[in-house]
Amino acid sequence: MTKYLLAIDQGTTSSRAIVFSGEGQILATSQQEFAQHFPEDGWVEHEPADIWGTVLQTCRDVIAKCGIEAQQIAAIGITNQRETTLVWDRVTGEPLYNAIVWQDRRTAKYCESLKQQELEDFISAKTGLLIDPYFSATKVRWILQQVPGARERAERGELAFGTVDTYLLWHLTGGREHRTDATNASRTLLFNIHSQQWDQELLDLFDIPASMLPQVMDSSDDFGWVDTALLGAAIPVCGVAGDQQAALFGQTCFREGMAKSTYGTGCFLMLNTGLKALKSEHRLLTTVAYRLNGVPTYALEGSIFVAGATIQWLRDGLQLIRGASDAEPLAEQTSLDHGVYLVPAFTGLGAPHWDPNARGAIFGLTRDTGIKEIVTAGLQSVCYQTKDLQKAMESDGVRPVALRVDGGMVVNNWVLSYLADILGATVDRPKIIETTALGVAYLAGLRVGVFDSLESLEKLWQCDRRFEPRMDKARRDGLYDGWKKAVSKVQTN
Ligand code: G3P
Repeated sequence: MTKYLLAIDQGTTSSRAIVFSGEGQILATSQQEFAQHFPEDGWVEHEPADIWGTVLQTCRDVIAKCGIEAQQIAAIGITNQRETTLVWDRVTGEPLYNAIVWQDRRTAKYCESLKQQELEDFISAKTGLLIDPYFSATKVRWILQQVPGARERAERGELAFGTVDTYLLWHLTGGREHRTDATNASRTLLFNIHSQQWDQELLDLFDIPASMLPQVMDSSDDFGWVDTALLGAAIPVCGVAGDQQAALFGQTCFREGMAKSTYGTGCFLMLNTGLKALKSEHRLLTTVAYRLNGVPTYALEGSIFVAGATIQWLRDGLQLIRGASDAEPLAEQTSLDHGVYLVPAFTGLGAPHWDPNARGAIFGLTRDTGIKEIVTAGLQSVCYQTKDLQKAMESDGVRPVALRVDGGMVVNNWVLSYLADILGATVDRPKIIETTALGVAYLAGLRVGVFDSLESLEKLWQCDRRFEPRMDKARRDGLYDGWKKAVSKVQTN
């Protein structure tokens, strides 16, 4: 009987389910967007029922679309928006609060107070992260403090904490399994990436009871069995990874020095540093890339909060374009000398600035500025932010040989040409740009023997198009200098 793999990709703005063949080819996809909630300035929430509901529906839908039996699915992989935090009742499954999304800045003041107590080095040495509202710990603490009765219930062991992977696994297994993988754990600010354990000193610092935490597994592991009633068969969940780590895996960046950049809601540039947890001196993150057979492979990561979301804002907020595909022809008609810079710091600035209080701005407007210049500036901002990360990596002594790109935005050829120009580096787009889902399908497939080794996966990677830099250095530097000036004007730190 032919065997398939089902990848669940629960992202920031939509949930997707994709069925892959045993050769890593996409057979069918189902996708559903869901509502974003912005209750206050800098707050971002999702309804847990939307997260779970859209995942279940897209899984059912994609299986029906393929015309396969659920029994033919050898294994499921879950990949997810990382850091987003949920707390729920272990018995009823009732969430205590909405999911607090990774972009949410509500704990900025508390983070500032931790910095003032000079705790950053202590926290960073253990977790590889920095102090920022981005990560889960301060969000869990906020829920325990703000929801009446939450702390007492947590102390009685009644509550479970999880990132989105854990929440989905818990639901898929009918509430039986409370687990996560090392990549997701490494984004919580509670996990020691060197010892690969939850860290009691950090739990004490954030005042989070250890009983709330999931068990940490390898990224390719036996996570549990899906309840038969949900999808029509008991299917094992054998792969779990945060979406950026899954994309690195899907791009088969298994060797030290290989890097990928994913353009989804945000943009995340990740470079494989092998068995070494390299510490950045330029405010990049050290994180677990994947963990196989108990052995963690590490990565250096630059995280940008707003990339594809800029295009969404140009479409929905400003209504300057009708769809993302309108942006490319507009940029093609625009001279690069337009002088407009759009800094999309809607939810603060991520790496390498880490400024939660910064907000977005557009600079350089003249009487001639029109829709096409603003849209082009939006696309350029994504490339300039990637350049910021490249610079930080270079200052840390590492330079990716070539950059593999993926995510929805990379269908835009103009963006990738400009990216290659601004980086002064080669940019490779693979044939399958759904590398997040592909990566977790690989992780699940490795566990159940659909794939046998990392070497065999490397052979499946195929280049769709290579973008080479053509811009001369003086022009590149001039354009990038303009960006740096614009960013400095929105910075608050
Ligand atoms: O760290 C946040 C990241 O995992 C979100 O990814 O694809 O939803 O932008 P995405």
